[in-house]
Amino acid sequence: MDNIAPTYGSRGLSIERGEGVYLFDSAGKKYLDCFSNMGVNILGHNNPDINAAITKQIGLLTNLHGSFSNSARSKFAEKLCKETSMPKMFFCNSGAEAVESAMKFARLATGRKEIIAAKMAYHGKTFGALSLTNTMKKYNEPFLPLLEHVKHFSYDDTEDLKRTISSETAAVILEPIQGEGGVRLPSQGFLSAAKKICEENGALLVIDEIQTGMGRTGKLLASQHDDVRPDMICMAKGLAGGVPAGAVLISDEISGKLFSGCHTNTFGGNPLACAAGIAVLDTIERDGLLSNAEDVGSYFLSRLQEIKSPYVREVRGRGLMIAIELKTKASDYVKALQDKGILTIPTLANVIRLLPPIIIAKEDVDLALPVFREVLTNG
Ligand SMILES: Cc1ncc(COP(=O)(O)O)c(C=O)c1O
Repeated sequence: MDNIAPTYGSRGLSIERGEGVYLFDSAGKKYLDCFSNMGVNILGHNNPDINAAITKQIGLLTNLHGSFSNSARSKFAEKLCKETSMPKMFFCNSGAEAVESAMKFARLATGRKEIIAAKMAYHGKTFGALSLTNTMKKYNEPFLPLLEHVKHFSYDDTEDLKRTISSETAAVILEPIQGEGGVRLPSQGFLSAAKKICEENGALLVIDEIQTGMGRTGKLLASQHDDVRPDMICMAKGLAGGVPAGAVLISDEISGKLFSGCHTNTFGGNPLACAAGIAVLDTIERDGLLSNAEDVGSYFLSRLQEIKSPYVREVRGRGLMIAIELKTKASDYVKALQDKGILTIPTLANVIRLLPPIIIAKEDVDLALPVFREVLTNG
């Protein structure tokens, strides 16, 4: 890590290889991956279908500017739009970039400036996205002033949203489940209620599915549990199964307000990422991975909830997005789990977050449960 700038904390591990839901360090030690690169490797590691798709595409074409068309790009866009019931889309390369794009599109489509996000939201760390992010002071404060015309309201509180929104609001952006905010699940119907409030105020609803999308919660999009029809959906992380990719799905009305050159990038929609993305969507469908995420997720959740420990406050989640909230600091537990061969994500001060690949089987969970029991009960 000598030449790498110190912007990341260190897990003290060098990971050299992955296979399915397992990772291997430089000494060959095996880890169950409940980290998935923060949710990116949705189909695990060394996935044969993704590998075959990108190997084939490498032999044809890897990058192509958005001013040309390409069959892999068109096919991926068509599939993604169909499966999310959105008519149009824009390609980019990461989550923060998807959020930046959505903010610009919201301004163009409404002619308004203000964006409303939720308290404890995480939308990325570029300047625009960071202006919306509200999880930790240390992320925002050193970079003030951030974007103007941004407000925050209490997540899952429609009355507070009604007080905050106005005729100046271009868009409200919401995670269907707050990920970095500690795996916070809103009440059923919150997203559709938020959409109604947006409509009443002439504002757009943007759903950030960057962490929750691509099957993580048992549906392709977590917002599909709520039957909401957003105006825009941001996607990234698992979108191309580990190849960098991001996207914003948009309505026809918004698309109609965009013009050539209003927002572009060099790598977005590159055929390599698109070929990987097609393989991800095909594999999810062929292997019934949405039901796997739901079944194995609820099995994992209920087995973890059965662990009686004086240190655990609550175990919650949906599908394969699970939080173990502790009464104490999470980092020591995350380290103890890592030492015993399970990689998890420390979140806020006291939450252990699990985002395993959605290919995980009950047998993998059964092997891991005694380790969770030991670490969580020993304190
Ligand atoms: C909900 C959400 N939005 C946006 C982002 C930013 O994505 P990226 O790190 O690819 O910029 C993340 C990353 O964790 C996220 O969880």
